[in-house]
Amino acid sequence: MIDLEKIPAHIAIIMDGNGRWAQNRNLPRLAGHNAGMIAMKEIVKAASSLGVHHLTVYAFSTENWRRTTEEVTGIFKLLIIYVEKELNELHQNNIKVRILGDYEKLPADAVKSLERSLKTTKDNTGLQFNIALNYGGRDEILRSVKKLAKEVEMGRMKADAITEEDIANNLYTYGIPDPDMIIRTSGEMRLSNYLLWQSAYSEFVFTDMLWPDFTREDFEMTIEVFQNRKRRFGGR
Ligand code: IPE
Ligand code: IPE
Ligand code: MG
Repeated sequence: MIDLEKIPAHIAIIMDGNGRWAQNRNLPRLAGHNAGMIAMKEIVKAASSLGVHHLTVYAFSTENWRRTTEEVTGIFKLLIIYVEKELNELHQNNIKVRILGDYEKLPADAVKSLERSLKTTKDNTGLQFNIALNYGGRDEILRSVKKLAKEVEMGRMKADAITEEDIANNLYTYGIPDPDMIIRTSGEMRLSNYLLWQSAYSEFVFTDMLWPDFTREDFEMTIEVFQNRKRRFGGR
């Protein structure tokens, strides 16, 4: 049974396996991405009702541009459809949307609808739904280092005085606590450039399920797995 008193504050997900889900059904890859959006919608609702503070999903990596133009543009189109269709409900559920990553490089119509969702939900106080879009952990660390280097260059800061907190404060995740748990579906056991800095002490849960098949029940089961872990953070 899941302990409602011990719900992880921040859950991050690598939603992987959309392509294979489609392939298994002889469908085009985009049908898999569409099914993935539907699965995501359910998990957002589940996280919100369980009282999770932060749900962070990996929607598009800095490396995903290597895919065909057809797939990349298709993913962004589906994203617009998701945001347009769900914005009202997200807002009604007091969910606040935030984007992590260099999302301004996305097609203009996607940027526009994403920014509308940010603006509409900015004062909401329930679940914070962080969407990692054109996100890369290394890119994010590099940007933080450059900002701090600039401060040193301008003479506003001493190199020796730079702290871990300074680095964290210049990441996309500024102000968000580190993820307690990172879930990855599809059987792959790697981070693929996700939350490299933030995952220092995250609990990992891997499942062979493909993302479109992942349900609220599966989500609750992973929370149960998390609740049975012993976290030590380097202490005894
Ligand atoms: C994850 O599913 C979604 C994105 C990367 C956008 P994939 O598209 O990577 O699915 P597989 O790994 O090919 O099955
Ligand atoms: C990670 O999945 C990115 C997202 C889920 C958005 P990938 O499918 O891109 O990762 P690799 O290529 O298998 O490492
Ligand atoms: Mg994949």
